[in-house]
Amino acid sequence: MCRRWYLGAFDDRRLVGCVLGTHDTRKGWINRLAVEPDYRRRGIATRLIRACERALRRAGIRVFAALIDPANRPSEAFFASLGYDALPMAYMRRKDREAL
Ligand SMILES: CC(C)(COP(=O)(O)OP(=O)(O)OC[C@H]1O[C@@H](n2cnc3c(N)ncnc32)[C@H](O)[C@@H]1OP(=O)(O)O)[C@@H](O)C(=O)NCCC(=O)NCCS
Repeated sequence: MCRRWYLGAFDDRRLVGCVLGTHDTRKGWINRLAVEPDYRRRGIATRLIRACERALRRAGIRVFAALIDPANRPSEAFFASLGYDALPMAYMRRKDREAL
């Protein structure tokens, strides 16, 4: 069974960071990670990812992955800081409609 976890970081009641974790029964996927610009470099994304990994581990997942645009160097540096390896992969996609 596939599951998903929406996790948020809050400053009082204000949402300042979020991540969506999913898995396909074998691999855990980290999606939609973002932290408000004024709140960056305070360890918020690190805590979001670690919480996401813990939730995935509880579901039996031991491999964690994220897709990163090659132009997004901050995100690559961020994931590298958490011990993620960059692997050479091709991202393939097909759209039913160009507008999607
Ligand atoms: C990438 C992002 C989520 C990082 O969030 P963050 O809360 O600032 O990250 P952290 O504070 O936990 O950073 C942990 C470490 O990652 C690395 N890192 C984070 N941002 C970095 C940057 N802009 N440049 C270089 N290294 C960076 C650093 O090693 C940092 O540790 P340090 O601050 O002690 O040097 C945030 O910049 C963001 O929301 N970017 C826009 C959305 C995005 O690109 N999401 C990812 C899509 S795959």
